[in-house]
Amino acid sequence: MKDKIQSLLEEIKAFKAENNEQLEKFRIRLLSKKGVITGLFTEFKNVPKEHRKEFGRVLNELKNKAQEKVNFLRDELEDVKTADKSDKDLTLPVDFIELGTLHPLSIVRNKIIDIFTRIGFTVAEGPEIEDDFHNFTALNFPEEHPARDMQDTFFIEKDPDIALRTHTSSVQVRAMETTKPPIREIYPGRVFRNEAISARAHCIFHQIEGLYIDKNVSFADLKQTLFYFAKEFFGENTKTRFRPSYFPFTEPSAEMDISCNICGGKGCNICKYVGWVEILGCGMVDPNVLENCRIDSKKYTGFAFGMGIERITMLKYRIEDIRLFFENDLRFLKQFKSAF
Ligand code: DAH
Repeated sequence: MKDKIQSLLEEIKAFKAENNEQLEKFRIRLLSKKGVITGLFTEFKNVPKEHRKEFGRVLNELKNKAQEKVNFLRDELEDVKTADKSDKDLTLPVDFIELGTLHPLSIVRNKIIDIFTRIGFTVAEGPEIEDDFHNFTALNFPEEHPARDMQDTFFIEKDPDIALRTHTSSVQVRAMETTKPPIREIYPGRVFRNEAISARAHCIFHQIEGLYIDKNVSFADLKQTLFYFAKEFFGENTKTRFRPSYFPFTEPSAEMDISCNICGGKGCNICKYVGWVEILGCGMVDPNVLENCRIDSKKYTGFAFGMGIERITMLKYRIEDIRLFFENDLRFLKQFKSAF
């Protein structure tokens, strides 16, 4: 039996096929229902109990080797065939190359940018590795303040602290430091938090923030701008509501909800039967923040807002697990071909 297996292994190794017929003969002889290897499996019952495990392992290995060889030769013959064709007939159509698609997060980011640029916002970006001042201190997070805990992150250096930014609000600071108002900008980018990964949270995600600073900018401007965005993005019939909230860098602060785009506000499991879903945080820029960035808070006022792109995308397309965005599974990504 051992010799037989050994000689089969050698035969498999040495075998070459010049065409599909030869390959098919080889496959049938070894692997078909009445093939040699299949036949060996029927001898299982004659093998003493204590050797059965080993025998099974060796036979399976033999079968896999044979199958791998068949697959390999089949691919090789296929390659030769296509090479032959293209060598001989240059008028044949080329193989179809499937075009890639934009990632759903890119699609949504572009759509948001498109909506805001239509009303005069421009796009700016900043570094993902930030110092403490731009990520926290300038934004009115006092040292040791519990608000810092809500945005724990990954530190690259301590004293002075250098960390992965927890929000793109740091880019607001950079803009205010270097631009004389009026400022009307949005800030898309990747952000990081020290969070356990789950269906709802990830340690890497994306945000878009917005900032508008000028003379006489009011809460009414904030509401109208975000109302316009919600309708453009989620549809004409979308309703919005503002709830009071807290952020260190805005005063007053609010969170904006939209009427649930799945059930139209009637109540479903996505909106937890309240008819509303939260989509962003916003508020009037705190005068302390303006002063930290060398903008005269007696002369200028402004509003700011920030939203998570994953969250918006999940709501828009009813995606239930944030991890899908980062797994690069084509079955998921291909579903967004024709979106927008
Ligand atoms: N930076 C906040 C966060 O990451 C979101 C946010 C809230 C941004 C209010 C703003 C704002 O600009 O005004 O949770």
